[in-house]
Amino acid sequence: MEFEKDILCIGAGYVGGPTMSVIAERCPQYRVTVVDIDEEKIRAWNSGNLPIFEPGLDEVVARARERNLFFSTEIAEGIRRADIIFVSVNTPTKTFGEGAGRAADLQYWEKTARQILENSSSDKIIVEKSTLPVRTAAAMERILTSASGKPRFDVVSNPEFLAEGTAVEDLLSPDRVLVGARETPEGVLARKEIVKIYANWVPKERILESNIWSSELSKLAANAFLSQRVSSINSISALCEKTEAVVDEVAAAVGMDSRIGDRFLKAGVGFGGSCFKKDILNLVYICENYGLDEVARYWESVIRLNEWQVQRFVRTIVGSMFNTVAGKRIALFGFAFKANTGDTRESPAIYVAKGLLDERAHVVITDPKALENARRDLAGVDGQVTFEEDPYAAAKGAHALAVVTEWDLYRTLDYERILRDMVSPAFLFDGRNILDHERLHRIGFNVFAVGKAPLRHYE
Ligand code: UDX
Ligand code: UDX
Repeated sequence: MEFEKDILCIGAGYVGGPTMSVIAERCPQYRVTVVDIDEEKIRAWNSGNLPIFEPGLDEVVARARERNLFFSTEIAEGIRRADIIFVSVNTPTKTFGEGAGRAADLQYWEKTARQILENSSSDKIIVEKSTLPVRTAAAMERILTSASGKPRFDVVSNPEFLAEGTAVEDLLSPDRVLVGARETPEGVLARKEIVKIYANWVPKERILESNIWSSELSKLAANAFLSQRVSSINSISALCEKTEAVVDEVAAAVGMDSRIGDRFLKAGVGFGGSCFKKDILNLVYICENYGLDEVARYWESVIRLNEWQVQRFVRTIVGSMFNTVAGKRIALFGFAFKANTGDTRESPAIYVAKGLLDERAHVVITDPKALENARRDLAGVDGQVTFEEDPYAAAKGAHALAVVTEWDLYRTLDYERILRDMVSPAFLFDGRNILDHERLHRIGFNVFAVGKAPLRHYE
């Protein structure tokens, strides 16, 4: 079959994989190929066991794969054939040299730009899908125009706003799609080409066009605003614990103000995930580079508060268990950074587990999707760690349970049965405020929730 357009995506990760699967599923007229340097990952994308878990993704992939969606490791060949190339390689925080711990590490991304240049003999639109520092497109353009006699490349920014766990839903009905380009005749044309792809299923009024720098910065700003809301409610949770106010009640009251809105106001053990911290650090670094120290300090405080919140959770566990957890069995319910994903990148659970191991606790980890990643995250860490599929087995013989991920599964467990199998007095720390604390207290638990006075059976 003749395809209208050949679309390539470099990077088959959490962003590239689902995004391209949805584009292919919605647009049978395009040939969509996703390439990656990781052979194992590509094998998994081509198998019945996809490398990432996302509700609804299996079905989307099954409908499009081999029809107009292909996963491959043939990067050079993919580049040669493509009209449009999405770049979705990872851009982690730099761990070395200038800007270490804050700036984005653009080495994969730059390598990809050079690879595109090397293997292209026809004009192409290059789409920045990865989250990048504002003004990165300028650097990409410089690389792509560095050789004479090469075809024309137009760089467009099209940041991805999907959240893990709801990726398919977010892609199918996004709040908005943002496409930024240079305001030149060629830039505007390239932007139209990308808009055309999304217009196959996204209503026109939800597709925003902007200049390229606004587009790059909007992604960083959106993640900064979202994480700032989480840190704001978490800061209030600490005050609630001191004053007998209840943070979920405060959040409900605050969120009913339509100017504020009720989403992203759930207090908890702190935010995790691959984006929030990385993107704020990146924003801070950029601000510092432009001499905007006050702006940098403002955003930095969002991360500081988040780190403090997770440390506070560990301190609450240790403090309320008579200041020692050495040798005590503590079951962590959940390890993923949020529910409905197996992803554990920057998960608060990693910090909770390490904090408790430092205190010599025996940490038992259970999670319906993230055990494999949890094993990897804690490999080589000193101390006693056990992994259990079954939450009941994890809780057996435990002195305490700590809910770290808000999996629905934990709402409906038989807590009477769990309590019978635990060491008394039994402690329950709800780091996500998903359980019925009053009831659990009534049946015998000492309950410590975030942003709420403890419910204890002792003074
Ligand atoms: C990545 C970035 O981390 C994020 O900043 C951006 O918003 C979108 O892309 P994600 O998809 O979650 O997010 O990353 P990851 O799951 O690590 O996927 C990146 C993929 O790129 C990996 O599969 C990696 O193997 C691949 N890659 C990396 C290449 O194919 N070539 C490279 O040179 C480097
Ligand atoms: C985020 C953005 O939402 C998405 O638009 C962007 O493209 C990538 O980064 P993601 O990291 O997948 O997505 O998950 P998100 O739902 O935003 O949650 C991030 C963290 O904040 C999680 O650890 C979550 O548990 C926490 N969170 C979120 C809270 O603690 N309280 C809330 O009210 C909301």
